[in-house]
Amino acid sequence: MIIEPRMRGFICLTAHPKGAEQNVKNQIEYIQSKGAIAGAKKVLVIGASTGFGLASRITSAFGSDAATIGVFFEKPPVEGKTASPGWYNSAAFETEAHKAGLYAKSINGDAFSNEIKRETLDLIKADLGQVDLVIYSLASPVRTNPNTGVTHRSVLKPIGQTFTNKTVDFHTGNVTEVSIAPANEEDIENTVAVMGGEDWAMWIDALKNENLLAEGATTIAYSYIGPELTEAVYRKGTIGRAKDHLEATAFTITDSLQSIGGKAYVSVNKALVTQASSAIPVIPLYISLLYKIMKEEGIHEGCIEQIQRLFQERLYTGSEVPVDEKGRIRIDDWEMREDVQAKVAELWKEATTETLPAIGDLAGYRNDFLNLFGFEFDGVDYKAEANEVVNIDSIK
Ligand code: NAI
Ligand code: NA
Repeated sequence: MIIEPRMRGFICLTAHPKGAEQNVKNQIEYIQSKGAIAGAKKVLVIGASTGFGLASRITSAFGSDAATIGVFFEKPPVEGKTASPGWYNSAAFETEAHKAGLYAKSINGDAFSNEIKRETLDLIKADLGQVDLVIYSLASPVRTNPNTGVTHRSVLKPIGQTFTNKTVDFHTGNVTEVSIAPANEEDIENTVAVMGGEDWAMWIDALKNENLLAEGATTIAYSYIGPELTEAVYRKGTIGRAKDHLEATAFTITDSLQSIGGKAYVSVNKALVTQASSAIPVIPLYISLLYKIMKEEGIHEGCIEQIQRLFQERLYTGSEVPVDEKGRIRIDDWEMREDVQAKVAELWKEATTETLPAIGDLAGYRNDFLNLFGFEFDGVDYKAEANEVVNIDSIK
């Protein structure tokens, strides 16, 4: 079988194992090129297979020689159908980690469930004893609360009033106006239940109760703020409420970790093309303009560059971790630079279907999107047969 991208709406139905492998190898090479980081040695990554979570796992393993356990929810390959990209990424990650003599095991299943938490706790107990860093990097549209059995679905809506602005279909390049009706109370509650901090706190409680967190352990979750342009639909919308909750949960968790001198952080990251962000209206247009400016300025970063900087220049410098007035780590500093935002706001006014190819980085957006699924990597022969079943070493 020759594997090609097959698009449906905002998702790609196929993924390329060799391309995913190349993606992971490129990220490892980047981390190795930046030198050692005096980071954690035993790391649990929840949401470890794609995006910021995968970058966090790679940075820990190849920057600090850490043993890693990765939890994720991916589809293994079945007869005639490719796996989801995070499956191939994780297979490649384990192969490379094991080649380098590093411990790496993975758990595939619903991280929100009691069962997967139990399985993870048992694995830590058996293999690592304790962990000293827990990365919480889940992005999901749905969560079943294991205590109530209620399934919550998140929505991406403004609050209070209808939001109307430009958006782009990045496949066709068509710029249109989109109107999104405001959320009701239930929408807000559901979105907070899925993307807020409740499950993060459950994980940390479960780990702490079984003495699986080392003295001084750190936990980090990822958040986003972004510019005024996207505020109504992002930071002041339903997802923003969830991020407010996530950020508040960092303080609750830090309190709960007092006895072991532990600490919870939220890191505010840059807007990037991931499966999660491609589905949010308006954001892809913003990202395509932002990429153009940041590349011109020489300050563009992907997930791996962001997380490398988070670890090397924020978390593990040997001195106090720098935070903003709300206690958050900021690695969105270059995105939020005044000159960058002023330029994006200018371009935003001009953006139409006709102008976008020149004033925005639509090609870069598309390339990054295809990269998520293992396509468009240099050094991969996409014309070759790629039908072997790819296993993850630690998953039977
Ligand atoms: P992603 O879609 O690339 O990664 C999500 C991860 O969660 C994958 O490993 C997936 O397997 C896992 N996952 C999803 N549902 C799961 C479940 N039920 N059980 C176990 N694993 C599950 O997303 P991305 O973009 O890396 O997002 C991670 C965090 O970073 C999110 O909190 C997101 O809001 C935040 N963030 C994203 C930004 C962006 O522009 N993409 C910017 C700033 C923050
Ligand atoms: Na992730």
